[in-house]
Amino acid sequence: MALKVPRHSLLLLLAVGAVQAAAASAAVPPPQAQLQVSFYARSCPRAEAIVRRVVRRRAARDRSVLPALIRLHFHDCFVRGCDGSVLIDSTPGHPAEKEAPPNLTLRMLDVVDDAKAAVEEACPGVVSCADIVALAARDAAAMAGRVRYELPTGRRDGTVSSAAEVNLPSPSASFAEALSAFRSIGLGVVDLTTLLGSHTMGFCHCGLIMNRLYNYNSTSPFDPTMDAGLLAVLRRRCPPHVVTPQNQSRDVIVPMNFVAPLGPFGLDNSFYPSVLAGRAVLQIDQELASSGAARRIAAMFASRPGNFRVQFAKSMVKLGGVNVLTGRQGEVRLNCRRFNS
Ligand code: HEM
Ligand SMILES: *[C@@H]1O[C@H](CO)[C@@H](O)[C@H](O)[C@H]1NC(C)=O
Ligand SMILES: *[C@@H]1O[C@H](CO)[C@@H](O)[C@H](O)[C@H]1NC(C)=O
Ligand SMILES: *[C@@H]1O[C@H](CO)[C@@H](O)[C@H](O)[C@H]1NC(C)=O
Repeated sequence: MALKVPRHSLLLLLAVGAVQAAAASAAVPPPQAQLQVSFYARSCPRAEAIVRRVVRRRAARDRSVLPALIRLHFHDCFVRGCDGSVLIDSTPGHPAEKEAPPNLTLRMLDVVDDAKAAVEEACPGVVSCADIVALAARDAAAMAGRVRYELPTGRRDGTVSSAAEVNLPSPSASFAEALSAFRSIGLGVVDLTTLLGSHTMGFCHCGLIMNRLYNYNSTSPFDPTMDAGLLAVLRRRCPPHVVTPQNQSRDVIVPMNFVAPLGPFGLDNSFYPSVLAGRAVLQIDQELASSGAARRIAAMFASRPGNFRVQFAKSMVKLGGVNVLTGRQGEVRLNCRRFNS
């Protein structure tokens, strides 16, 4: 039976329907969308300021949050894209990403919890954990090294986190291996050379460099590309007995860069002169000097701190866009350590 509706009101109904549909499509994001600067401008206008306040407060007490937050963002983005999967706590039978061996010094996850709690109070259920990690890393770079950039946001949180998937490059990777790992996530030699510049910050566990000091390869007991002065210092700071199969001490650490004018929690271009002088602590960092392209970029950054800052910002934005979930993909977690369902 046909509905008895006067023709003009039917038209009106159709028009209203169209308006409603348009309104609905504006409110419900498409399944996939793009990240955008100021994504939370309407839904949570203070989100970025709240995260910055939390990072600043923590850094005032302990500057070591700055390298930790930058590294956390890299680990999040490298595995499954920047989707907050690195934050998930393991559950019985399901070891999460953070259980995988490269997690040494993944610290300060509680800064993300604090920031999440603060944004939840202002705008419940709106700001993703993945965005908080990316924003916190951005703030850390600004506080550590005056690296400033607008960060596109709108990431959604992933619903998978598995230790078995963690395929981060090893600290003893060759340049070619590291580059191919970076290429697999859409980053290139400039990004690799630039982002490794943050290895002027923080500390390294002796266990990760013992091979460079004592049992390198069949022609040399130590890595011959390492500066002799640095070798002597590292052998003293990391004596053979602190890391043995019986004594996997996780406590002994050395600065990533002994010649950092801003100290271990500042970010500047001082990584590059160290690499060029054979004074990188990690093998992967020293590898940059072995590749023509990376070496040229390193030499340029060594003499141009401003260029380094500008490119660091660009490469961080690029890293922050790796395999992101957007629109209606994933979820916005309520607790960064647990999936919603
Ligand atoms: C080939 C890629 C990379 C490898 C093999 C690598 C490896 C490492 C290792 C072994 C450490 C020391 C961990 C420890 O002993 O506690 C470290 C620390 C660090 N990494 Fe990387 N990394 C890589 C890429 C990156 C990238 C792309 C960034 C930045 C976007 C980054 C930022 C940092 C920071 C800031 C630290 C110091 C952390 C702290 O002190 O808490 N790394 N990295
Ligand atoms: C890192 O992994 C080890 C197990 O390999 C685990 O005991 C430790 O709690 C993890 N660290 C973090 C910060 O989750
Ligand atoms: C040992 O390492 C050095 C420096 O990287 C290299 O020149 C040499 O060929 C290596 N020896 C072997 C047997 O791999
Ligand atoms: C194990 O390493 C620690 C450093 O963390 C050191 O103090 C201790 O003497 C080592 N144990 C042995 C048996 O060498």
